[in-house]
Amino acid sequence: MWPRMLPILLVACLTSTGLRAELSGEDYLGGSAIPDPTERARVQALIDAERQREAERAETLARERAEEETRRRMQRDAEAASRPQGEVLTQTYCGACHAPERLQSARHTGLGWTLTIARMRWLNGARIPPEDAGRIRVHLARTQPADPARAIMEYGWAAVLALLPVAWVLRRWSRRSSATYRSPREPGT
Ligand code: HEC
Repeated sequence: MWPRMLPILLVACLTSTGLRAELSGEDYLGGSAIPDPTERARVQALIDAERQREAERAETLARERAEEETRRRMQRDAEAASRPQGEVLTQTYCGACHAPERLQSARHTGLGWTLTIARMRWLNGARIPPEDAGRIRVHLARTQPADPARAIMEYGWAAVLALLPVAWVLRRWSRRSSATYRSPREPGT
């Protein structure tokens, strides 16, 4: 008998007015839940005061944030001003493409830095005004000099490159003089 009653019970449950919510949509709209006008005014005043406080809190927070930001910026500027100019320039210009630790690990002679910076400017597209490039070069050559092995290598290459044209001229010159010297005596050559 119970299984047969179940659908009836189900329909009864779903249609029964007793199961519906007691509140109507209007009850959620402001005011009508509190019928007494003085009480309503009191609650409204509380809500308004809380909203006011909330707005003030947001304003204070925004002001504090702005102050903090200004303070940080001033601190940064002061730090930048106290650091050597070359360091700041290096960070500004070279830091655009290189991580600081990568830059700091590089070591070159003065010549090496001149060539590296020239390569950055002419081949890699670093836009650095010439006078700043000069300051960066001086700074890097002083703070990140090459170790002796690298110095020998860099200046060695420079010396070889500088001597190449000299060697070429010397060779041509010695060939020509030996040719003019030999030709009358050795007809076969
Ligand atoms: C526009 C991007 C860019 C800027 C700005 C830049 N570089 Fe480079 N740099 C590169 C690229 C690309 C390479 C790798 C190719 C090469 O070695 O030429 C490189 C490689 C290097 C290397 C490794 C090779 C070596 O010779 O030891 C050093 C050191 C270096 N850069 C230093 C600098 C310094 C110092 C500056 C600032 C004056 C600078 N870079 C600015 C793009 C840049």
